[in-house]
Amino acid sequence: MSSSSADLNVQLGSLSLRNPFLVGSGPTVKNVDQMRMAADNGWAGASIKLAIDPVPYLSFPPRYRWLKKEKIHIFTAEKRLTADEALSVVEQARSAVQDFAIIPTITYDGQDYEGWGRLARRFQDAGAHAVELNMCCPNMSFNLSSTGTSTDKSTGASLGNDLTNLPTAVRFVTESVTVPVIVKFSPEGNQLAAAGRVALDAGATAVGHSGNRLGIPDIDITRPLDPVYRLQDQITLGCISGPWLRPLALRDTYQMRHHLGPDAFIIGSGGVSDLQSAVQQIMVGSDAVWICTETMIRGFDWLPRLLDKLTNYMRDMQYKTIGDMRDLLHQNITSAQGLTLHDGYAQVDPAVCTSCGMCWKIGHCNAIHHNEGTTVVDPELCLACSTCIDVCPRGAISMIERPASNMPTRE
Ligand SMILES: Cc1cc2nc3c(=O)[nH]c(=O)nc-3n(C[C@H](O)[C@H](O)[C@H](O)COP(=O)(O)O)c2cc1C
Ligand code: SF4
Ligand code: SF4
Repeated sequence: MSSSSADLNVQLGSLSLRNPFLVGSGPTVKNVDQMRMAADNGWAGASIKLAIDPVPYLSFPPRYRWLKKEKIHIFTAEKRLTADEALSVVEQARSAVQDFAIIPTITYDGQDYEGWGRLARRFQDAGAHAVELNMCCPNMSFNLSSTGTSTDKSTGASLGNDLTNLPTAVRFVTESVTVPVIVKFSPEGNQLAAAGRVALDAGATAVGHSGNRLGIPDIDITRPLDPVYRLQDQITLGCISGPWLRPLALRDTYQMRHHLGPDAFIIGSGGVSDLQSAVQQIMVGSDAVWICTETMIRGFDWLPRLLDKLTNYMRDMQYKTIGDMRDLLHQNITSAQGLTLHDGYAQVDPAVCTSCGMCWKIGHCNAIHHNEGTTVVDPELCLACSTCIDVCPRGAISMIERPASNMPTRE
């Protein structure tokens, strides 16, 4: 690397990542061939598909929907690994890949919380570079209780929201292993920041979030009882991921960074698929990023192009390290009370306007008038909301800022 090159390296406790991009736990990291492909394409590591011990109590053949138009991925039915299957992936990956973080994702489902520590220890002994505790999956006991099914299970998002027992489970792990411990949470339950603090206080090296929201997919209203999944009869609340999730996932990371402070190592996820979405995640507070859905749809081989683009972008922006970008957007997010607004009004350029009429229909606007083929804005009635600029297909409208001394008083 030349002295002017951007440094993409990220330090997660004792673990050095060659860049901030980890394959997120899911169906693209269930076996060693997938790990090898990810490593060959420059990914920094992978969080292996969730392993549940003693046995995965909810595990089905996968049924997914990728709704292209809406950019929504949704699923509930999913295959989880047994501990032995995941241990075997870790052992094989240790000899198959280099410079690639092998991170098993685990859930202990026994009666005693000590079992979390025993399970983590088995993965460390098998060669894991870090262990990730799944306190995020909303498709297991959290789904059952959300859909009215009584259950004595408390795993995934349920345990992640249980601030009494969560630290016990995390502490048994942090006291049993020396490798970094990552705890992944769900925004479902609204406790991201508090749960992140509890996990860090219990000794976790890093915390993060899945970004996933539980939702109900689009149905055909002429056949409302038909399943939207193929080869599956009913629907239940499903995990939404992919680009649709971005604004919410940015907020999740922001919330964690805001409450956990600058020293916490945070891994964000939710809809990252390109330079723009990756940098945004980092700028609201992510040190590293998990990407899952995009690897399901496009595989792994698009990462080298993204790394090139990121390096060029960082050089142009004079960011030397990922840390130079982290939190930049975060710092500009203020409370609703603290906003600075500039007064102004919209103006139509008659040379560009084609009188298409789209802005005439804006329901909250009384300022736009049209006479004899011309569209004009009355500056005194204009609220300066700027909706017309977004509606206009021609780019004929712009905002004019009023000098502060001319600011009219408005409600
Ligand atoms: C099909 C599927 C399976 C997933 N399985 C897991 C899992 O086993 N453990 C986990 O922590 N996250 C799991 N996730 C969540 C992803 O790792 C990721 O955090 C989330 O989907 C948001 O990122 P994305 O929009 O890039 O997919 C899964 C996501 C999908 C789509
Ligand atoms: S800025 Fe808002 S209020 Fe002003 S003309 Fe455009 S839509 Fe109307
Ligand atoms: S939307 Fe644009 S092009 Fe259409 S009438 Fe309004 S200003 Fe003119």
